[in-house]
Amino acid sequence: MTHNLMRITNHESRITDAARGPSPQSPVPSLAVEIAGIKFVHPVLAAPGPLGFGREVQSVVDLHSFAGFITKSVTLDPRSGHPYPQVVPTAGGWLNSQGLPNHGLAGFLTKDLPYLRTLGIPLIVSIAGESVREFVTLAEWLSQEEGVAAVELNVSCPNVDRGLVFGVDPQLTRELVAAVRAVCRYPLFVKLTPNVTDIVPIARAAEEAGADALSLVNTLVGLAVDVHTRRAKLGAGTGGLSGPAIRPIAVRMVWEVARHCDTPVIGMGGIATAEDALEFLIAGARAVAVGSAVIDRPSVATEIRAGLVRYLQEHHVDDVAEVIGSLEVR
Ligand SMILES: Cc1cc2nc3c(=O)[nH]c(=O)nc-3n(C[C@H](O)[C@H](O)[C@H](O)COP(=O)(O)O)c2cc1C
Repeated sequence: MTHNLMRITNHESRITDAARGPSPQSPVPSLAVEIAGIKFVHPVLAAPGPLGFGREVQSVVDLHSFAGFITKSVTLDPRSGHPYPQVVPTAGGWLNSQGLPNHGLAGFLTKDLPYLRTLGIPLIVSIAGESVREFVTLAEWLSQEEGVAAVELNVSCPNVDRGLVFGVDPQLTRELVAAVRAVCRYPLFVKLTPNVTDIVPIARAAEEAGADALSLVNTLVGLAVDVHTRRAKLGAGTGGLSGPAIRPIAVRMVWEVARHCDTPVIGMGGIATAEDALEFLIAGARAVAVGSAVIDRPSVATEIRAGLVRYLQEHHVDDVAEVIGSLEVR
């Protein structure tokens, strides 16, 4: 807390004379951030999902424009995904229900991981399971592999034994994180769902059980209806809302979690510009991740990075760390 207050004070004094704008000799500010011992050259990561496992999009997206890559969630067995359409546009965002299509663990280890290792940026492997046992098995296998910077638990999946999404229940979250923590040799990120009344007890449960970073938010459950056919627009019925529409909710949740937990937070939800990213950083996220925006603008990470540099120069801030957690709430 004291640390945060110092940051706010620093931030204030720098903002006061910010109106002058960058001087010709403004030094290039440092964008480097560190999370769980992983060094990221800047704070903009690729969120899990829209970029799949990288190979599919390498001809259109420069994956090196991201400081780190979080994979689409890998499951134990291959999954073909939900019926089409899997993604539909909505006002201010997208609704998707892909059903986690992926090659399964064996396919990931033989087809996807060898390519992802060649990228040379920190690789965070997202995993999803229907039981604690499945998550544990996935983490055990990944722990035998090289070239993985961290494992991320996608807790937005239903637990078949309890008929409940892991991440809506603090106790389920705690049990899952503790069980995976016990077998995983890599830092453990936990990706939280926003589909809860209060995210703080879930974040705390993940932290107490050994999470090294908290990623938030995943998509918000929604339903879009085709009024002519009177059917759901998505093949699977309901789906997850992403994009600008969810940003204020995501920023609010990041702020709440960052205030109540010491674990570093990775913020996401509707980030498409440097200003969007800054909202999350100022609210307390140590890094951000971009998902849906890449669908329309493959160069989005490069643009955000450049915009962050401009912002810091204009405000005479020489390290992005100084803006992190500097939010003042009136
Ligand atoms: C098409 C699509 C697929 C996604 N797949 C995953 C996934 O496999 N695992 C996961 O943790 N999140 C997944 N997400 C959620 C994103 O990582 C992110 O949390 C969410 O979309 C909010 O960020 P955005 O508004 O920048 O997209 C997916 C999102 C989209 C749009």
